[in-house]
Amino acid sequence: MRKKIVAGNWKMNTLPAEGVELAKGVVAGRGEVCSCVNFIVCPPFTHLSQVAEALKGSDVALGAQNCAAEAKGAYTGEVAASMIAALGCKYVILGHSERRQYYGETSATLNKKMEQAYANHLTPIYCVGENLEEREAGKHFDVVKAQIEEVVYNLTEEQFKELVIAYEPVWAIGTGKTATADQAQEIHAYIRKVLAAKFGAAAAECPILYGGSCKPSNAAEIFAKEDVDGGLIGGAALKAEDFLAIGKGFQK
Ligand code: 13P
Repeated sequence: MRKKIVAGNWKMNTLPAEGVELAKGVVAGRGEVCSCVNFIVCPPFTHLSQVAEALKGSDVALGAQNCAAEAKGAYTGEVAASMIAALGCKYVILGHSERRQYYGETSATLNKKMEQAYANHLTPIYCVGENLEEREAGKHFDVVKAQIEEVVYNLTEEQFKELVIAYEPVWAIGTGKTATADQAQEIHAYIRKVLAAKFGAAAAECPILYGGSCKPSNAAEIFAKEDVDGGLIGGAALKAEDFLAIGKGFQK
């Protein structure tokens, strides 16, 4: 049985006090959702420690949105994996399309970040996904394959067993335009095939999340698909009620 995961990527939203309120709201309503759903919230670095406090005693896990490629030292403005782990993070989102697009993250950088994450016992949520031009040119399979081969294939079997993947088509992020459940299933199944080519049977255990305008009204249909194991949620994760409602989308 693969893990079911609903993770909230708050991106660069909320002030610390708002983040704490949001986290408290998730904790308060969590009991209304199946305990089989693993909730994760990923606030900005600045509120990790306060949100960790708000999550105490609950089963809602904490994640960060990024970490540095280096362990420590003279890297002004960077935040090390060891630092976020020390604040109580269990997860770290790596390779988000916004990081690739606006901050020039390449597979070379991401290999180093993955190494830092594992060295600090953080579970990476590794993001892949094509942009609109690539989708329209029918290149989406090749794009995600390369993003996996160049990074995930470098993991050991032990490391791979901890990994979570998020498929997020760039054209669906923050656009209100969601991939259809069939489109999601098609590419999730393909991603699993690419993972199986390297890691064999372990690929069947790897959670693959869908992200991109996922909301309470479409989550159930998408999560019902065989190879979709949950969601990485942006905008709809900023309201506890919507975030929790997405978790209720699990009916399998
Ligand atoms: P939206 O849910 O706002 O489209 O964002 C998705 C996303 O990028 C999550 O990482």
